[in-house]
Amino acid sequence: MPQYHPSTYGIHADDRINVLTDVAPPIHTSTTFRYPHNPDHLQPVPEDGEFMDLSTPLVYSRLASASTNRLETILAPLIYPAAKEEELDGSDGLANHVISYTSGLSAFHALLVNIVPKVIAISGGYHGCHGVIDLHKKMHSVKTIDLHADDATWDAAGLSKGDLVHLETPLNPTGEAFEIAKYAKRAHARGALLSVDATFAPPGLQDPFQWGADVVMHSGTKYIGGHSDMLCGVLATAKGAEGLKRAKTMRAERIFLGGVLGSLEGWLGVRSLRTLDLRVQRQSSNAERLVRWLHDCLDSKGEDQEAVKKVVSKVAHASLQESDMSWLKQQMPNGFGPVFSVYMKGMQQARRLPSKLRLFHHATSLGGVESLIEWRRMSDTEVDNTLLRVSVGIENWEDLKNDLLSAFKALADGAEGDEEVSVMNMEFRLRGAQVLEA
Ligand SMILES: Cc1ncc(COP(=O)(O)O)c(C=O)c1O
Repeated sequence: MPQYHPSTYGIHADDRINVLTDVAPPIHTSTTFRYPHNPDHLQPVPEDGEFMDLSTPLVYSRLASASTNRLETILAPLIYPAAKEEELDGSDGLANHVISYTSGLSAFHALLVNIVPKVIAISGGYHGCHGVIDLHKKMHSVKTIDLHADDATWDAAGLSKGDLVHLETPLNPTGEAFEIAKYAKRAHARGALLSVDATFAPPGLQDPFQWGADVVMHSGTKYIGGHSDMLCGVLATAKGAEGLKRAKTMRAERIFLGGVLGSLEGWLGVRSLRTLDLRVQRQSSNAERLVRWLHDCLDSKGEDQEAVKKVVSKVAHASLQESDMSWLKQQMPNGFGPVFSVYMKGMQQARRLPSKLRLFHHATSLGGVESLIEWRRMSDTEVDNTLLRVSVGIENWEDLKNDLLSAFKALADGAEGDEEVSVMNMEFRLRGAQVLEA
């Protein structure tokens, strides 16, 4: 069988399981499925618990449904871009290494339920994952240690076999990247597993398995969904017998966690994967151009540049990590993540800029076709209050640039200073929002 490019697999990876004549995937909503009519064909549930894979006939949609199976089937060649066609299929195939969940956080919870680590090395990144760990701390003894601490500190904390090193790269909210191979080596030297939250670099931009990840996690709500209309989480395990065993166990555990992706979301996900490669390429190149333009503005002279300099203090993005390019260019050979951050000169400017934009929605989340900007203090109490997180969409990049420039100019021309205003009421509201935020 030929091996195809991810853009081709996004359209055709499910052809082999498509027994219908529909060109567009049908919407299935049934929660339950008839057993065979012929009693001789009835197969009672095996007792080993690991009975399910993508070819198992449908029984009840908390176990699996047609649309979620289809989504996982298409995700496999995208998540394992180096896989040969014959590695994808069959009960041992890579499609069985990919498991979808109701959300990114339910996927992370499922991972912790599966591993039950005693020590987790983690630092910063999406605060929701820390919230999930807090729930586990409530249920059993697990402690966290700084991901970036040195080996001696990890060892003193007892990080060892059966524990977890959890790396988010690129990082929420700044878009900065970390070297996966370095953390894989450190984790494996201690018998620990490395999980990589690759939400900010979806398939096409980064293959964490190539650099030693044992488990890759995505908030599928972001680029995999891509249209800001579905929640989804994904876990995928490394190639090989150990990865397959873990995936089969997690698929079986998902039945009892109950966090199975809804059929309609599965269908939306299939719709989305058709264009994943196109969308992500465009978003990544748009982001890199915008970051380059902004960064150059901070370092050059001219009317536009002066307006930018008056309000912006710094831009953060993997494309600006010049001293890391020797490994970063290899880890992200096709472009950097489509999210970057802008630090404004003051909190008031960060708070006001989004309202001056026409093409960026002021909203949380990321990864959709539409550009978003978020004054991140709206949803994260820990973050620098001058930080704006930008999720770049698929619009024309120069339109986005001109929109940003007009907003910077309006802000620079305006009377708004950065006098400290009382944010007491807002802080109160934020505490509620943080729990709900994506
Ligand atoms: C890096 C990262 N991981 C995980 C999540 C959680 O995903 P979900 O909102 O789908 O639960 C998010 C959400 O923003 C995220 O940015």
